[in-house]
Amino acid sequence: MEKTLYERLGGSEGITNIANDAVDLHLKNTKIATRFENAKADVNSLKNGAATFFIAGTGGPAVYKGKDMMKTHQGMNISHSEFFSVIDDVMQALDKNNIEQREKEEVLFVLYSMKEEIVFV
Ligand code: HEM
Repeated sequence: MEKTLYERLGGSEGITNIANDAVDLHLKNTKIATRFENAKADVNSLKNGAATFFIAGTGGPAVYKGKDMMKTHQGMNISHSEFFSVIDDVMQALDKNNIEQREKEEVLFVLYSMKEEIVFV
């Protein structure tokens, strides 16, 4: 049987590294960094939330206990351009962790499918 996306991204350790790198990139990305200023005091909890969410969503053992994507981002007035900046950072984090094209495409699709729950909600 084909391995789950969770396994192909390097399991919990691999996904935690990817999530940490992606959040670090958001904090340095001038297009979206200010969005995370309030959360900055608790960067670790943001990284943890992102990792758990992705581990749970790709077939791994974690249980995500945070709010759903619509509730998390509601009222933030997030634009399409900001949404794609987040995706750009994630793609860069995948490159940094030597993730192959096939897995990058799958992650891209998973993220893109959440657009309606995040942009201008
Ligand atoms: C597909 C794209 C996205 C996904 C999968 C995603 C996922 C998440 C997750 C899992 C959390 C943590 C929730 C928790 O632990 O309770 C979070 C928080 C957050 N996200 Fe996103 N996000 C996305 C796009 C964006 C965009 C485009 C922005 C704005 C530029 C954004 C801004 C934030 C902020 C500011 C928080 C922290 C909220 C807080 O601590 O109060 N997100 N996101």
